[in-house]
Amino acid sequence: SAAEKAGYDYFMLKEIAEQPKAVADTLLGRIDGSGTLSLDEVRIPPEVLREVDKVVIVACGTAYHAGLIAKYAIEHWTRVPCEVELASEFRYRDPILDQRTLVVAISQSGETMDTLMALRHAREQGAKVLAICNTNGSTIPRESDAVLYTHAGPEVAVASTKAFLTQLVACYLVALYLGQVRGTKYGDEIRDVVRDLSRISGAVERVLETMEPVRELARSLAHKNTVLFLGRHVGHPVALEGALKLKELAYMHAEGFAAGELKHGPIALIEEDLPVVVVVPSPRGRSVLHDKIVSNIQEIRARGARTIVIAEEGDEAVVPYADHLVRVPATPTLLQPLVATVPLQVFACELATARGNEVDQPRNLAKSVTVE
Ligand code: AGP
Repeated sequence: SAAEKAGYDYFMLKEIAEQPKAVADTLLGRIDGSGTLSLDEVRIPPEVLREVDKVVIVACGTAYHAGLIAKYAIEHWTRVPCEVELASEFRYRDPILDQRTLVVAISQSGETMDTLMALRHAREQGAKVLAICNTNGSTIPRESDAVLYTHAGPEVAVASTKAFLTQLVACYLVALYLGQVRGTKYGDEIRDVVRDLSRISGAVERVLETMEPVRELARSLAHKNTVLFLGRHVGHPVALEGALKLKELAYMHAEGFAAGELKHGPIALIEEDLPVVVVVPSPRGRSVLHDKIVSNIQEIRARGARTIVIAEEGDEAVVPYADHLVRVPATPTLLQPLVATVPLQVFACELATARGNEVDQPRNLAKSVTVE
């Protein structure tokens, strides 16, 4: 009903707007005043977490993209090898799992059959399973050893938005907690990131306040057939998520690529006026990464692409090559997906509306997929 949408035309718009609160709620009570993570609710004892020698993440769709981002955070902060796999593929390849494997199953609904079957398989092999879930008491957390709930509140629109951002927050918490428990050489960095994370909901809010030009741009592209998305590092899964949103909502051909792969094939797709969204990592810190993507933008623009660049405030190097520039607040590289994804959600939602599509109930899709 209209009342449930709180004045918004679609649940998706309401849920996009709720993201700062969803992010803050997911952090609430999990970081104490001194910047220490307290995740006692994760009922896997620290001694067991210290013995973990491999993390395997299983999920589908948008939740899988959260898992891809989690891999960067987990491997960097904990130095424990991490694999991410589509839940629907996982058990069919006879994966190597044992008592020292921590499997993380990410699912908004907690009812996705592919993810459920993957976690059952993992537990049969003796692995410990931690669920990251948005739905209290659903099947996936019930069948897991432990659960870290995301506190996004009910997500009604089929296309996931606020659940995704809170899955990212939960993944960062798991990565940072594992790092904290295991005591890695990144202790200082972990403390800094915990502080940045505790302020991140304000950054998401700021992105939402500046979305009008993105909506305008989306409307101007409503007649296009294809949009490409490029990113490097954690920007690559963000690009995949931007493309998935556009497929689901606008029914357009959309693909995400690792920007470094361009020259290995996808660059052949670039033609005059093709919209290409590029997610640019922070120029601070890992500057090599930043320089590489700036040259990728130059390459595609020289071939006629219409570049839509998502870059940190103050990043001047991208300005000469951006046909459209979308600014996001500065964050540590690993946290950037929390701000960089938001314009892509708004973009897809507005394109869907401009094309006359049903935003909350895209054709052929169900909110939770309870068959394999
Ligand atoms: C997201 O926009 C999708 N509709 C879909 O990919 C979803 O993320 C996927 O089906 C997984 O759902 P879950 O998180 O409830 O397990």
